[in-house]
Amino acid sequence: MTNLDLDFIRAQFPAFREPSLEGLAHFDNAGGSYACRQAIDWLNRYYRQTKVQPYNAFPPSKTAGEQMDAAKERLAAWLSVGSDELHFGPSTSQNTYVVAQALRRKLRAGDEVIVTNQDHEANVGVWNRLQDDGIVVREWKIDPDTAELRATDLEALLGPRTRAVAFTHCSNVVASINPVRELTELIHQAGAWALVDGTAFCPHGLPDVAALGADLYVFSLYKVYGPHLGAMYMRRELNAELPNQGHFFKAADPEAKFTPAGPDHAQIATVNGVLDYMEAVARQHGFGDKPVQARAGTVSSLFRDHETALLQPLLDWLSDHPKVRLIGRNRAPERAPTVAFTVDGHRSLELASRLAEFKLGVGVGHFYAYRLVKALGIDTDDGVLRASFVHYTSEEEVGRLIEALDRLL
Ligand SMILES: Cc1ncc(COP(=O)(O)O)c(C=O)c1O
Repeated sequence: MTNLDLDFIRAQFPAFREPSLEGLAHFDNAGGSYACRQAIDWLNRYYRQTKVQPYNAFPPSKTAGEQMDAAKERLAAWLSVGSDELHFGPSTSQNTYVVAQALRRKLRAGDEVIVTNQDHEANVGVWNRLQDDGIVVREWKIDPDTAELRATDLEALLGPRTRAVAFTHCSNVVASINPVRELTELIHQAGAWALVDGTAFCPHGLPDVAALGADLYVFSLYKVYGPHLGAMYMRRELNAELPNQGHFFKAADPEAKFTPAGPDHAQIATVNGVLDYMEAVARQHGFGDKPVQARAGTVSSLFRDHETALLQPLLDWLSDHPKVRLIGRNRAPERAPTVAFTVDGHRSLELASRLAEFKLGVGVGHFYAYRLVKALGIDTDDGVLRASFVHYTSEEEVGRLIEALDRLL
């Protein structure tokens, strides 16, 4: 149905051969994806062969450091950014927290920061707390009818004191793909920094981050088939302007300034596994010898095309059902396959349990997009049902989901 070799893809994920998971259709990928075998192998190998303090002269230590450096360089190349602009922290929430502490020192009382009510809390709360130091935080609100952010509403909020705008590439509930390039240009014209959360977008194909124009771009590798780690791109110029958050004697090292927690060496090395997987996909589909940016772009297109083809029937079924309230758009090319909805007369929690009886692993709740779910007038204690999938999902699994919903409703 699409050009993606799904048998090959699924063979790269041990979860599909794991007896205890047999028959489960995983529809909570926006929460966390399965890990590819390459990442599992790297983690395993690191723990067996190089689990010592890295960057010393003795062989396993030297190798450990080289593996960590390679992971950073390879991921940076795949994202089209400089490896000195890429940082690994424990999670996206931790990464934005650290940058917020730096901004707290940089900004002055009366400076303004804009946040949205469409974002996951990781890209809202940390900036909101800057108010304690006299920084004015303005909220760019969604249109409650469509759940979308409108650029014209942002324009009305931007002003001479705006220093930063935090927004999402793709909400983990609404799932429409925001026009990041257009928005970063608007933000830069106002003289502010664009702080973009790519966490819900990246599992569907890692983007050309340089082309997006963001000053900060964060995402979580545990949703991109890899280890529990946060990746953070920070533009060199922003890095130079913000004060050091690490040890004082490392203040001159731009690659250490924003990772005070100390990295998890093994998980950083394991990022090589994610890249090995992407490279294997490129080779399998006949474009392994293209330049890295072409490989990255073509892998992303393969993933997106497959997902889009599977997504449309689900969106059609949900938007046609009289009891279902679908959050976000009903045209698959305009959104990620993260499909949130509520059903009249049913608690989301109850339906999630019923779906689990059909071996369908669907998420439920507000997914830390608490402000968004509230703005949509949905009970935050119950939340929405969220069926999220990625490129390794099969047509048969989506069919099973539609069939089960049909029976339950
Ligand atoms: C859109 C989005 N942003 C940020 C986060 C936070 O990521 P982390 O768990 O790495 O802190 C999540 C996690 O679910 C998310 O979905």
